[in-house]
Amino acid sequence: FARYAPYIRAINQLKREKNAVILAHNYMTPEIYHGVADVVGDSLQLAIEATKVQAGTIVQCGVHFMAETSKILNPAKTVLIPDMKAGCSLAESITADGIAEMRSKYPGAPVVSYVNTTAEVKAASDICCTSSNAAQIVRAMESDTVIMTPDQYLAQNVANEVPEKNVVWWEGSCIVHEQYTAKDISDFRAMHPNTRIIAHPECPPDVVAASDFSGSTSGIIKYVETNKPKEAMLVTECSMASNIADALPEVDFVGPCNMCPYMKKITLEKILWSLHTGTEEVIVDPQIAEKARVAVERMIELSR
Ligand code: 13P
Ligand code: SF4
Repeated sequence: FARYAPYIRAINQLKREKNAVILAHNYMTPEIYHGVADVVGDSLQLAIEATKVQAGTIVQCGVHFMAETSKILNPAKTVLIPDMKAGCSLAESITADGIAEMRSKYPGAPVVSYVNTTAEVKAASDICCTSSNAAQIVRAMESDTVIMTPDQYLAQNVANEVPEKNVVWWEGSCIVHEQYTAKDISDFRAMHPNTRIIAHPECPPDVVAASDFSGSTSGIIKYVETNKPKEAMLVTECSMASNIADALPEVDFVGPCNMCPYMKKITLEKILWSLHTGTEEVIVDPQIAEKARVAVERMIELSR
């Protein structure tokens, strides 16, 4: 950690000088998560925190859709992202035309879009969801048929959890979580029968079924903190275990993990540059932002 200290000091000082706060996703590396973040959380928590920011500038340490969500919810703030190329395979998998295509295939069905989408897609949707409230949101829809975009696996996991609804989905997927297979899980379990296996709901449904628990990134952290298993395998992004391992010395984090190349574009060097130069600013067309805000705020309202 010592080699990061000069960056951490400089960033924390610049944050005060520039009246900025850092909102960081749970997938940020430990030096960001523990060293410079003012708030850490999953997508829902970060969206809610964005609405409460008093400082003039938000530096979003996460991927682009998260920065857009902050801008949509708190448009008076300057929202910076340290690397504009921090995308997401899910957000890239669908456009507003895709939403229109789903609406014409399933007339009258509401569109529930994962927050892992562009502002344009959110604006074309009825409501958003995150991994922590997806089942709750789908259950709250009046219609029997519910369109979920763009994550096919999150949708299939929700369909299993909410069998009373006819959930239909777009064919997008997360490049980090789609790599896990049910065979990986059963092979691992055969060798380590006492390991608690905890999966993110962006994993395919047979992976979730083979696991002991599934939840959002913060749901996973809470589960490990509460249950303190002797051994835990987090079927998700690698930084998750690194960020909580020091505080949980009684838990042995085992097994493989996958790295999100988009999240890993955010580094201390780029955060410092971003604060220093005010780049890169995330701008959302106000008309699109207004419509997208309705979808995100409906979700926040229903999740209370
Ligand atoms: P969470 O909302 O669970 O933090 O998920 C965001 C994400 O991008 C997971 O891949
Ligand atoms: Fe997108 Fe997957 Fe990376 Fe999350 S982990 S930002 S869903 S590509």
